[in-house]
Amino acid sequence: MTNKYHSVKPIRGEGERQLFIETYGCQMNVNDSEVVLSILQPAGYSLCDSYKEADLILINTCSIRDNAEQRIWGRLDLFRIEKVKRRGLKVGVLGCMAERLKEELLIHPAVDLVAGPDSYRSLPLLIESLDGGSKQINTILSQEETYADISPVRMDKNGVSSFISIMRGCNNMCSYCVVPYVRGGERSRDPQTIVEEARVLFQNGYKEVTLLGQNVDSYHWTNPDNPTETTTFAMLLEMVALINPALRVRFSTSHPKDMSNAVLYTMAMYNNICKHIHLPVQSGSDAMLLKMNRKYTREQYLERVAKIREIMPDCSISTDIIAGFSGESEDDHRETLSVMREVGYYTAFMFQYSERPNTKAARRYPDDIPPEIKSARLNEIIKLQGELSLASNKADLGREFEVLAEGYSKKSKAELTGRTQQNKVVVFPAGDHKAGDYVTVKIESCTSATLIGKEIIK
Ligand code: SAH
Ligand code: SF4
Ligand code: F3S
Repeated sequence: MTNKYHSVKPIRGEGERQLFIETYGCQMNVNDSEVVLSILQPAGYSLCDSYKEADLILINTCSIRDNAEQRIWGRLDLFRIEKVKRRGLKVGVLGCMAERLKEELLIHPAVDLVAGPDSYRSLPLLIESLDGGSKQINTILSQEETYADISPVRMDKNGVSSFISIMRGCNNMCSYCVVPYVRGGERSRDPQTIVEEARVLFQNGYKEVTLLGQNVDSYHWTNPDNPTETTTFAMLLEMVALINPALRVRFSTSHPKDMSNAVLYTMAMYNNICKHIHLPVQSGSDAMLLKMNRKYTREQYLERVAKIREIMPDCSISTDIIAGFSGESEDDHRETLSVMREVGYYTAFMFQYSERPNTKAARRYPDDIPPEIKSARLNEIIKLQGELSLASNKADLGREFEVLAEGYSKKSKAELTGRTQQNKVVVFPAGDHKAGDYVTVKIESCTSATLIGKEIIK
Protein backbone atom coordinates (compact mmCIF):
# COMPACT_ATOMS: atom_id res chain seq x y z
CA MET A 1 0.00 0.00 0.00
CA THR A 2 1.28 3.43 -0.84
CA ASN A 3 1.79 6.18 1.67
CA LYS A 4 0.97 9.46 0.06
CA TYR A 5 -0.97 12.60 0.67
CA HIS A 6 -4.32 12.55 -1.08
CA SER A 7 -6.35 15.70 -1.43
CA VAL A 8 -9.95 15.07 -2.36
CA LYS A 9 -12.19 16.30 -5.11
CA PRO A 10 -14.81 18.80 -3.98
CA ILE A 11 -18.45 17.83 -4.31
CA ARG A 12 -20.41 20.96 -3.54
CA GLY A 13 -23.81 20.19 -2.11
CA GLU A 14 -26.63 22.05 -0.43
CA GLY A 15 -25.26 21.46 3.09
CA GLU A 16 -24.80 24.59 5.13
CA ARG A 17 -21.60 23.37 6.72
CA GLN A 18 -18.41 22.91 4.80
CA LEU A 19 -16.12 19.97 5.49
CA PHE A 20 -12.50 19.56 4.42
CA ILE A 21 -10.93 16.10 4.75
CA GLU A 22 -7.22 15.57 4.36
CA THR A 23 -6.04 11.96 4.10
CA TYR A 24 -2.59 10.53 4.85
CA GLY A 25 -1.30 6.97 4.87
CA CYS A 26 -2.46 3.93 2.98
CA GLN A 27 -5.41 3.18 0.70
CA MET A 28 -7.35 1.95 3.73
CA ASN A 29 -7.34 5.50 5.00
CA VAL A 30 -8.45 6.84 1.61
CA ASN A 31 -11.39 4.46 1.77
CA ASP A 32 -12.09 5.35 5.41
CA SER A 33 -12.28 9.04 4.50
CA GLU A 34 -15.04 8.07 2.06
CA VAL A 35 -16.82 6.22 4.87
CA VAL A 36 -16.51 9.33 7.03
CA LEU A 37 -17.99 11.52 4.30
CA SER A 38 -20.87 9.03 3.90
CA ILE A 39 -21.58 9.34 7.62
CA LEU A 40 -21.32 13.14 7.69
CA GLN A 41 -23.23 14.05 4.53
CA PRO A 42 -26.60 13.07 6.02
CA ALA A 43 -25.63 15.18 9.05
CA GLY A 44 -25.53 18.28 6.83
CA TYR A 45 -21.90 18.49 5.73
CA SER A 46 -20.68 18.93 2.18
CA LEU A 47 -17.08 18.74 0.97
CA CYS A 48 -15.15 21.85 0.12
CA ASP A 49 -11.84 22.06 -1.70
CA SER A 50 -9.79 24.16 0.71
CA TYR A 51 -9.34 24.15 4.45
CA LYS A 52 -9.63 27.93 4.28
CA GLU A 53 -13.35 27.61 3.45
CA ALA A 54 -14.13 24.84 5.92
CA ASP A 55 -16.23 24.93 9.08
CA LEU A 56 -14.80 21.55 10.01
CA ILE A 57 -11.36 20.20 9.09
CA LEU A 58 -10.81 16.47 9.54
CA ILE A 59 -7.32 15.06 9.17
CA ASN A 60 -7.14 11.29 8.66
CA THR A 61 -3.74 10.28 9.94
CA CYS A 62 -1.06 7.59 9.64
CA SER A 63 1.37 6.31 12.30
CA ILE A 64 3.37 3.83 10.27
CA ARG A 65 6.66 5.75 10.53
CA ASP A 66 7.78 8.69 12.63
CA ASN A 67 7.99 11.02 9.63
CA ALA A 68 4.31 10.31 8.83
CA GLU A 69 3.40 11.57 12.31
CA GLN A 70 5.73 14.58 12.13
CA ARG A 71 3.93 15.75 9.01
CA ILE A 72 0.60 15.68 10.88
CA TRP A 73 1.97 17.75 13.77
CA GLY A 74 3.07 20.29 11.16
CA ARG A 75 -0.44 20.45 9.71
CA LEU A 76 -1.96 20.86 13.16
CA ASP A 77 0.32 23.86 13.82
CA LEU A 78 -0.95 25.39 10.58
CA PHE A 79 -4.60 24.75 11.49
CA ARG A 80 -3.96 26.33 14.87
CA ILE A 81 -3.07 29.59 13.12
CA GLU A 82 -6.19 29.26 10.95
CA LYS A 83 -8.30 28.84 14.09
CA VAL A 84 -6.96 32.09 15.50
CA LYS A 85 -8.07 33.81 12.29
CA ARG A 86 -11.50 32.19 12.15
CA ARG A 87 -13.52 31.66 15.28
CA GLY A 88 -15.91 28.71 15.11
CA LEU A 89 -13.61 26.58 12.96
CA LYS A 90 -13.35 23.05 14.36
CA VAL A 91 -10.53 20.56 13.78
CA GLY A 92 -10.73 16.80 14.24
CA VAL A 93 -8.01 14.13 14.09
CA LEU A 94 -9.03 10.72 12.76
CA GLY A 95 -7.20 7.51 11.91
CA CYS A 96 -4.20 5.65 13.20
CA MET A 97 -2.44 8.48 15.01
CA ALA A 98 -5.71 9.35 16.79
CA GLU A 99 -5.81 5.78 18.04
CA ARG A 100 -2.15 5.70 19.06
CA LEU A 101 -1.86 9.04 20.81
CA LYS A 102 -5.40 9.72 22.03
CA GLU A 103 -5.33 12.48 24.73
CA GLU A 104 -1.85 13.57 23.68
CA LEU A 105 -3.46 14.87 20.48
CA LEU A 106 -6.50 16.24 22.24
CA ILE A 107 -4.40 18.66 24.28
CA HIS A 108 -2.95 20.27 21.13
CA PRO A 109 -4.56 23.72 20.88
CA ALA A 110 -5.74 23.10 17.31
CA VAL A 111 -7.60 19.91 18.14
CA ASP A 112 -11.29 19.75 19.13
CA LEU A 113 -11.97 16.14 18.36
CA VAL A 114 -10.13 12.80 18.26
CA ALA A 115 -11.75 9.72 16.71
CA GLY A 116 -10.09 6.33 16.09
CA PRO A 117 -10.70 4.12 13.02
CA ASP A 118 -13.56 2.12 14.54
CA SER A 119 -15.52 5.06 15.93
CA TYR A 120 -16.56 7.00 12.84
CA ARG A 121 -20.24 6.22 13.33
CA SER A 122 -20.12 8.38 16.45
CA LEU A 123 -18.76 11.41 14.53
CA PRO A 124 -22.10 13.24 14.09
CA LEU A 125 -22.72 13.01 17.85
CA LEU A 126 -19.17 13.98 18.78
CA ILE A 127 -19.29 16.99 16.45
CA GLU A 128 -22.65 18.08 17.80
CA SER A 129 -21.26 17.93 21.34
CA LEU A 130 -18.49 20.36 20.34
CA ASP A 131 -21.08 23.14 20.30
CA GLY A 132 -21.06 22.91 24.09
CA GLY A 133 -17.44 24.06 23.94
CA SER A 134 -15.74 20.92 25.26
CA LYS A 135 -13.29 18.73 23.34
CA GLN A 136 -14.50 15.23 22.34
CA ILE A 137 -12.74 11.87 22.02
CA ASN A 138 -13.69 8.32 20.99
CA THR A 139 -10.92 5.82 20.31
CA ILE A 140 -12.56 2.55 21.29
CA LEU A 141 -11.41 -0.29 19.02
CA SER A 142 -14.07 -2.81 18.11
CA GLN A 143 -14.10 -6.57 17.55
CA GLU A 144 -16.92 -6.26 15.01
CA GLU A 145 -16.92 -2.92 13.22
CA THR A 146 -16.44 -3.35 9.46
CA TYR A 147 -18.71 -0.52 8.19
CA ALA A 148 -20.18 -3.33 6.04
CA ASP A 149 -23.50 -1.57 5.50
CA ILE A 150 -21.93 1.74 4.44
CA SER A 151 -21.50 2.19 0.72
CA PRO A 152 -18.93 4.96 0.71
CA VAL A 153 -19.47 8.20 -1.21
CA ARG A 154 -16.63 8.18 -3.75
CA MET A 155 -14.02 10.89 -3.64
CA ASP A 156 -11.68 9.47 -6.30
CA LYS A 157 -10.58 11.88 -8.92
CA ASN A 158 -11.03 9.74 -12.02
CA GLY A 159 -14.38 7.90 -11.70
CA VAL A 160 -12.69 4.83 -13.19
CA SER A 161 -10.97 3.06 -10.33
CA SER A 162 -12.05 2.67 -6.72
CA PHE A 163 -11.10 0.95 -3.45
CA ILE A 164 -13.25 -1.47 -1.44
CA SER A 165 -12.19 -2.49 2.08
CA ILE A 166 -12.87 -6.19 2.54
CA MET A 167 -11.52 -6.47 6.05
CA ARG A 168 -10.18 -4.33 8.88
CA GLY A 169 -7.37 -4.71 11.38
CA CYS A 170 -4.46 -7.13 11.43
CA ASN A 171 -3.49 -10.16 13.56
CA ASN A 172 0.03 -10.64 12.26
CA MET A 173 2.10 -8.76 14.78
CA CYS A 174 5.15 -8.14 12.65
CA SER A 175 7.51 -6.94 15.36
CA TYR A 176 8.20 -3.50 13.81
CA CYS A 177 4.60 -2.64 12.94
CA VAL A 178 2.13 -0.35 14.66
CA VAL A 179 -0.91 -1.36 12.58
CA PRO A 180 -2.30 -4.12 14.87
CA TYR A 181 -2.24 -1.62 17.76
CA VAL A 182 -3.98 1.20 15.93
CA ARG A 183 -6.37 -0.80 13.77
CA GLY A 184 -7.19 -3.64 16.17
CA GLY A 185 -7.78 -7.31 15.41
CA GLU A 186 -8.65 -8.69 12.01
CA ARG A 187 -12.31 -8.72 10.96
CA SER A 188 -13.65 -9.80 7.56
CA ARG A 189 -16.61 -8.10 5.98
CA ASP A 190 -19.75 -9.90 4.73
CA PRO A 191 -18.95 -10.92 1.10
CA GLN A 192 -22.43 -10.06 -0.13
CA THR A 193 -21.95 -6.41 0.88
CA ILE A 194 -18.58 -6.36 -0.92
CA VAL A 195 -20.02 -7.80 -4.13
CA GLU A 196 -22.96 -5.39 -3.94
CA GLU A 197 -20.62 -2.42 -3.50
CA ALA A 198 -18.55 -3.52 -6.51
CA ARG A 199 -21.70 -4.08 -8.58
CA VAL A 200 -23.00 -0.58 -7.83
CA LEU A 201 -19.61 0.93 -8.70
CA PHE A 202 -19.66 -0.88 -12.04
CA GLN A 203 -23.20 0.33 -12.72
CA ASN A 204 -21.98 3.85 -12.03
CA GLY A 205 -19.28 3.59 -14.68
CA TYR A 206 -16.30 2.39 -12.64
CA LYS A 207 -14.09 -0.11 -14.46
CA GLU A 208 -11.72 -1.21 -11.71
CA VAL A 209 -12.00 -2.11 -8.03
CA THR A 210 -9.14 -2.79 -5.64
CA LEU A 211 -10.02 -5.06 -2.71
CA LEU A 212 -8.17 -3.84 0.36
CA GLY A 213 -6.90 -5.52 3.50
CA GLN A 214 -3.64 -5.63 5.47
CA ASN A 215 -3.46 -9.33 4.63
CA VAL A 216 -6.14 -10.19 2.07
CA ASP A 217 -5.11 -13.85 2.05
CA SER A 218 -6.42 -14.31 5.56
CA TYR A 219 -9.86 -12.95 4.58
CA HIS A 220 -12.31 -15.44 6.06
CA TRP A 221 -16.00 -14.92 6.58
CA THR A 222 -18.41 -17.24 8.36
CA ASN A 223 -22.12 -16.70 7.91
CA PRO A 224 -23.47 -16.04 11.43
CA ASP A 225 -26.81 -17.61 10.44
CA ASN A 226 -25.16 -20.72 9.04
CA PRO A 227 -21.68 -21.38 10.46
CA THR A 228 -20.97 -24.10 7.88
CA GLU A 229 -21.02 -21.43 5.15
CA THR A 230 -17.62 -19.79 4.86
CA THR A 231 -15.99 -17.59 2.24
CA THR A 232 -12.24 -17.53 1.60
CA PHE A 233 -10.33 -14.85 -0.29
CA ALA A 234 -10.11 -17.02 -3.42
CA MET A 235 -13.90 -17.43 -3.34
CA LEU A 236 -14.44 -13.71 -2.82
CA LEU A 237 -12.13 -12.86 -5.73
CA GLU A 238 -14.15 -15.13 -7.99
CA MET A 239 -17.45 -13.60 -6.82
CA VAL A 240 -16.22 -10.09 -7.65
CA ALA A 241 -14.65 -11.18 -10.96
CA LEU A 242 -17.99 -12.68 -12.04
CA ILE A 243 -19.82 -9.34 -11.74
CA ASN A 244 -18.75 -8.40 -15.26
CA PRO A 245 -15.76 -9.25 -17.48
CA ALA A 246 -15.34 -5.50 -18.11
CA LEU A 247 -14.71 -4.83 -14.42
CA ARG A 248 -11.05 -5.19 -13.52
CA VAL A 249 -10.31 -6.62 -10.09
CA ARG A 250 -7.17 -5.85 -8.09
CA PHE A 251 -6.23 -6.51 -4.48
CA SER A 252 -3.66 -5.48 -1.88
CA THR A 253 -1.85 -6.60 0.24
CA SER A 254 -0.84 -10.26 -0.08
CA HIS A 255 1.14 -11.88 2.72
CA PRO A 256 3.79 -14.41 1.56
CA LYS A 257 2.99 -16.77 4.44
CA ASP A 258 -0.72 -16.96 3.55
CA MET A 259 -0.96 -16.53 -0.22
CA SER A 260 -2.53 -19.78 -1.39
CA ASN A 261 -2.36 -21.60 -4.70
CA ALA A 262 -6.16 -21.34 -4.77
CA VAL A 263 -5.81 -17.55 -5.06
CA LEU A 264 -3.26 -17.94 -7.87
CA TYR A 265 -5.44 -20.39 -9.80
CA THR A 266 -8.46 -18.10 -9.42
CA MET A 267 -6.40 -15.19 -10.76
CA ALA A 268 -5.30 -17.28 -13.72
CA MET A 269 -8.86 -18.39 -14.47
CA TYR A 270 -10.36 -14.91 -14.86
CA ASN A 271 -9.02 -12.52 -17.45
CA ASN A 272 -10.39 -9.53 -15.53
CA ILE A 273 -8.39 -10.28 -12.36
CA CYS A 274 -5.29 -8.17 -12.89
CA LYS A 275 -2.02 -10.04 -13.16
CA HIS A 276 -0.21 -8.14 -10.45
CA ILE A 277 0.68 -9.15 -6.91
CA HIS A 278 2.05 -6.84 -4.25
CA LEU A 279 4.07 -9.25 -2.12
CA PRO A 280 6.05 -7.41 0.58
CA VAL A 281 9.33 -9.17 1.32
CA GLN A 282 10.63 -6.62 3.90
CA SER A 283 14.10 -8.24 3.95
CA GLY A 284 16.04 -10.93 2.10
CA SER A 285 17.78 -12.19 5.23
CA ASP A 286 16.37 -15.09 7.26
CA ALA A 287 17.77 -13.63 10.48
CA MET A 288 15.90 -10.35 9.88
CA LEU A 289 12.70 -12.09 8.75
CA LEU A 290 12.68 -14.12 11.95
CA LYS A 291 13.20 -11.06 14.10
CA MET A 292 10.55 -9.20 12.15
CA ASN A 293 8.14 -12.08 12.90
CA ARG A 294 7.19 -12.36 9.24
CA LYS A 295 6.79 -16.16 9.59
CA TYR A 296 8.46 -17.11 6.30
CA THR A 297 12.03 -17.70 5.20
CA ARG A 298 13.72 -16.35 2.11
CA GLU A 299 13.37 -19.79 0.54
CA GLN A 300 9.64 -19.98 1.29
CA TYR A 301 9.18 -16.49 -0.16
CA LEU A 302 11.01 -17.46 -3.34
CA GLU A 303 8.93 -20.63 -3.59
CA ARG A 304 5.77 -18.44 -3.66
CA VAL A 305 7.34 -16.26 -6.36
CA ALA A 306 8.18 -19.38 -8.40
CA LYS A 307 4.59 -20.58 -8.06
CA ILE A 308 3.25 -17.21 -9.27
CA ARG A 309 5.58 -17.40 -12.29
CA GLU A 310 4.59 -21.00 -13.00
CA ILE A 311 0.84 -20.33 -12.91
CA MET A 312 0.90 -16.81 -14.42
CA PRO A 313 4.09 -16.12 -16.41
CA ASP A 314 2.88 -12.59 -17.22
CA CYS A 315 2.15 -11.61 -13.59
CA SER A 316 4.12 -8.63 -12.24
CA ILE A 317 5.35 -8.55 -8.66
CA SER A 318 5.99 -5.51 -6.48
CA THR A 319 7.18 -5.31 -2.89
CA ASP A 320 7.87 -3.36 0.30
CA ILE A 321 11.36 -3.27 1.81
CA ILE A 322 12.65 -2.02 5.16
CA ALA A 323 16.31 -0.98 5.38
CA GLY A 324 18.21 -0.90 8.67
CA PHE A 325 16.05 -2.98 10.98
CA SER A 326 17.52 -3.80 14.40
CA GLY A 327 20.83 -5.65 14.16
CA GLU A 328 20.90 -5.67 10.35
CA SER A 329 24.45 -6.53 9.24
CA GLU A 330 26.07 -5.65 5.94
CA ASP A 331 25.51 -9.28 4.92
CA ASP A 332 21.81 -9.10 5.80
CA HIS A 333 21.57 -5.99 3.64
CA ARG A 334 23.33 -7.80 0.74
CA GLU A 335 20.71 -10.56 1.05
CA THR A 336 17.99 -7.96 0.54
CA LEU A 337 19.72 -6.68 -2.59
CA SER A 338 20.10 -10.22 -3.88
CA VAL A 339 16.45 -11.16 -3.28
CA MET A 340 15.45 -8.03 -5.22
CA ARG A 341 17.59 -9.14 -8.16
CA GLU A 342 16.32 -12.68 -7.95
CA VAL A 343 12.67 -11.65 -8.11
CA GLY A 344 13.13 -8.68 -10.44
CA TYR A 345 10.41 -6.51 -8.92
CA TYR A 346 8.87 -4.06 -11.36
CA THR A 347 8.48 -1.54 -8.52
CA ALA A 348 8.92 -1.30 -4.75
CA PHE A 349 8.05 0.88 -1.76
CA MET A 350 11.26 1.28 0.21
CA PHE A 351 11.67 2.61 3.73
CA GLN A 352 14.20 3.16 6.48
CA TYR A 353 13.26 1.36 9.66
CA SER A 354 11.47 3.69 12.05
CA GLU A 355 11.02 2.42 15.59
CA ARG A 356 7.39 2.63 16.71
CA PRO A 357 6.72 2.98 20.43
CA ASN A 358 5.35 -0.11 22.24
CA THR A 359 5.79 -2.51 19.33
CA LYS A 360 7.60 -5.76 20.06
CA ALA A 361 10.70 -4.45 18.28
CA ALA A 362 10.69 -1.27 20.37
CA ARG A 363 10.48 -3.32 23.56
CA ARG A 364 13.01 -6.03 22.68
CA TYR A 365 15.31 -5.03 19.84
CA PRO A 366 17.50 -1.91 19.94
CA ASP A 367 17.17 0.53 17.05
CA ASP A 368 20.93 0.23 16.61
CA ILE A 369 21.67 0.99 12.97
CA PRO A 370 23.04 4.55 12.74
CA PRO A 371 20.88 6.89 10.60
CA GLU A 372 23.64 7.43 8.04
CA ILE A 373 23.99 3.66 7.49
CA LYS A 374 20.21 3.25 7.23
CA SER A 375 20.05 5.95 4.62
CA ALA A 376 23.09 4.65 2.69
CA ARG A 377 21.48 1.20 2.56
CA LEU A 378 18.14 2.64 1.53
CA ASN A 379 19.82 4.60 -1.26
CA GLU A 380 21.49 1.45 -2.50
CA ILE A 381 18.12 -0.33 -2.50
CA ILE A 382 16.46 2.58 -4.34
CA LYS A 383 19.24 2.67 -6.92
CA LEU A 384 18.99 -1.06 -7.57
CA GLN A 385 15.19 -0.84 -7.83
CA GLY A 386 15.60 1.91 -10.43
CA GLU A 387 17.69 -0.47 -12.52
CA LEU A 388 15.21 -3.33 -12.04
CA SER A 389 12.24 -1.13 -12.96
CA LEU A 390 13.99 0.05 -16.11
CA ALA A 391 14.89 -3.54 -17.07
CA SER A 392 11.32 -4.65 -16.43
CA ASN A 393 9.95 -1.83 -18.60
CA LYS A 394 12.48 -2.46 -21.37
CA ALA A 395 11.30 -6.08 -21.50
CA ASP A 396 7.87 -4.71 -22.48
CA LEU A 397 9.13 -2.79 -25.55
CA GLY A 398 7.31 -3.99 -28.65
CA ARG A 399 4.64 -5.79 -26.63
CA GLU A 400 0.91 -5.03 -26.70
CA PHE A 401 -1.13 -4.44 -23.57
CA GLU A 402 -4.73 -3.79 -22.70
CA VAL A 403 -4.63 -0.41 -20.94
CA LEU A 404 -7.48 1.00 -18.86
CA ALA A 405 -7.39 4.77 -19.46
CA GLU A 406 -7.69 6.79 -16.25
CA GLY A 407 -7.38 10.38 -17.44
CA TYR A 408 -5.30 12.85 -19.38
CA SER A 409 -1.55 12.88 -18.85
CA LYS A 410 -0.08 15.67 -16.74
CA LYS A 411 1.55 17.19 -19.79
CA SER A 412 -1.28 17.38 -22.32
CA LYS A 413 -4.90 16.66 -23.12
CA ALA A 414 -3.78 14.99 -26.31
CA GLU A 415 -2.40 12.11 -24.22
CA LEU A 416 -4.10 9.64 -21.95
CA THR A 417 -2.55 7.82 -19.04
CA GLY A 418 -3.68 4.44 -17.81
CA ARG A 419 -2.40 1.15 -16.45
CA THR A 420 -1.77 -2.33 -17.78
CA GLN A 421 -3.08 -5.33 -15.86
CA GLN A 422 0.47 -5.55 -14.47
CA ASN A 423 -0.12 -2.13 -12.90
CA LYS A 424 2.43 -0.33 -15.07
CA VAL A 425 1.63 3.22 -16.07
CA VAL A 426 1.29 3.79 -19.82
CA VAL A 427 1.05 7.12 -21.66
CA PHE A 428 -0.35 7.15 -25.21
CA PRO A 429 -2.01 9.51 -27.73
CA ALA A 430 -5.66 9.90 -26.73
CA GLY A 431 -7.25 9.76 -30.19
CA ASP A 432 -11.01 9.55 -29.58
CA HIS A 433 -10.60 7.78 -26.28
CA LYS A 434 -11.47 8.99 -22.81
CA ALA A 435 -11.05 7.87 -19.21
CA GLY A 436 -12.72 4.51 -18.63
CA ASP A 437 -11.93 3.09 -22.10
CA TYR A 438 -9.93 -0.07 -22.63
CA VAL A 439 -7.29 0.57 -25.29
CA THR A 440 -4.79 -1.88 -26.82
CA VAL A 441 -1.42 -0.14 -26.75
CA LYS A 442 1.88 -1.21 -28.28
CA ILE A 443 4.87 -0.08 -26.21
CA GLU A 444 7.46 1.93 -28.14
CA SER A 445 9.67 3.48 -25.47
CA CYS A 446 9.98 3.76 -21.70
CA THR A 447 11.57 5.32 -18.66
CA SER A 448 12.01 3.44 -15.36
CA ALA A 449 8.60 4.78 -14.24
CA THR A 450 6.48 4.88 -17.41
CA LEU A 451 5.75 2.98 -20.60
CA ILE A 452 5.06 5.05 -23.71
CA GLY A 453 3.15 3.68 -26.69
CA LYS A 454 0.47 3.98 -29.36
CA GLU A 455 -2.93 2.42 -29.85
CA ILE A 456 -3.06 -0.66 -32.06
CA ILE A 457 -6.26 -0.90 -34.05
CA LYS A 458 -7.08 -4.50 -34.76
N1 SAH B 1 -0.01 -5.06 5.68
C1 SAH B 1 0.93 -4.80 4.73
C2 SAH B 1 1.64 -3.45 4.80
C3 SAH B 1 1.35 -2.50 5.87
S1 SAH B 1 2.35 -1.11 6.12
C4 SAH B 1 1.97 -5.89 4.78
O1 SAH B 1 2.05 -6.63 5.70
O2 SAH B 1 2.75 -5.97 3.88
C5 SAH B 1 3.20 -0.82 4.63
C6 SAH B 1 4.67 -1.02 4.71
O3 SAH B 1 5.26 -0.10 5.60
C7 SAH B 1 5.12 -2.36 5.22
O4 SAH B 1 5.05 -3.37 4.28
C8 SAH B 1 6.55 -2.08 5.64
O5 SAH B 1 7.44 -2.23 4.57
C9 SAH B 1 6.50 -0.61 6.02
N2 SAH B 1 6.61 -0.44 7.49
C10 SAH B 1 5.76 -0.87 8.42
N3 SAH B 1 6.22 -0.54 9.66
C11 SAH B 1 7.39 0.12 9.48
C12 SAH B 1 8.36 0.70 10.36
N4 SAH B 1 8.20 0.65 11.67
N5 SAH B 1 9.44 1.29 9.81
C13 SAH B 1 9.61 1.33 8.46
N6 SAH B 1 8.73 0.80 7.59
C14 SAH B 1 7.64 0.19 8.08
FE1 SF4 C 1 1.86 -4.63 9.85
FE2 SF4 C 1 2.60 -7.11 9.44
FE3 SF4 C 1 0.01 -6.55 9.74
FE4 SF4 C 1 1.30 -5.79 7.52
S1 SF4 C 1 0.92 -7.90 8.17
S2 SF4 C 1 -0.08 -4.56 8.77
S3 SF4 C 1 3.33 -5.30 8.29
S4 SF4 C 1 1.58 -6.37 11.31
FE1 F3S D 1 -2.47 2.68 6.92
FE2 F3S D 1 -0.75 4.23 8.15
FE3 F3S D 1 -2.75 3.26 9.47
S1 F3S D 1 -0.27 2.77 6.62
S2 F3S D 1 -3.30 1.36 8.51
S3 F3S D 1 -2.85 4.67 7.75
S4 F3S D 1 -0.70 3.45 10.23
